[in-house]
Amino acid sequence: MADLLVWQGDITTLNVDAIVNAANESLLGGGGVDGAIHKAAGPQLLAECRRLHGCPTGEAKITPGYQLPARWVIHTVGPVWQDGKQNEAELLASCYRQSLALADEVGARTIAFPCISTGIYGFPKPEAARIAVQTARQSLEGRSTPDKVYFVCFSQEDADIYHSLLRSA
Ligand code: AR6
Repeated sequence: MADLLVWQGDITTLNVDAIVNAANESLLGGGGVDGAIHKAAGPQLLAECRRLHGCPTGEAKITPGYQLPARWVIHTVGPVWQDGKQNEAELLASCYRQSLALADEVGARTIAFPCISTGIYGFPKPEAARIAVQTARQSLEGRSTPDKVYFVCFSQEDADIYHSLLRSA
């Protein structure tokens, strides 16, 4: 079973095989972690994203990382939180599942996730973290890659949530 780890800081600095981007359906950049990733990767990333013609919510697509330390960027589109009854939980789980499947396909051994949907998209943080950890555990069962999964927390609040979830195995 892969190691699930918490790391606090800027995901663009991480020297892992793949980082995950919390993108929007256009895949053409935005604010938050998406903006930071495009800025750090350089303009080739946007050029490559244009060729992907967007991505539906709950799905994921992969590109090189260009100027990032990470070799790959997996772009996934989390749900916008509405009232919790619009399939938000399943769509968020699907982001983690599809991202891990893509990482496995390219042989990425280490992968880092931001807290998808919990910024601009407003998904409640504790519930999003619970879904992230549970889905990662399920998806990684019986798979050899990735073998290290980092949950990257920008805030102390998120780090506290993930630490307590990962302690309660
Ligand atoms: N490293 C790690 N985490 C970060 C970084 C960073 N450099 N910057 C922000 N975060 P958000 P969403 C955290 O809003 O809610 C974009 O415009 C942030 O604190 O980036 O999925 C897209 O284009 C939060 O915990 O993503 C979409 O339109 C988490 O990343 C929309 O925002 C996610 O916050 C997606 O919204």
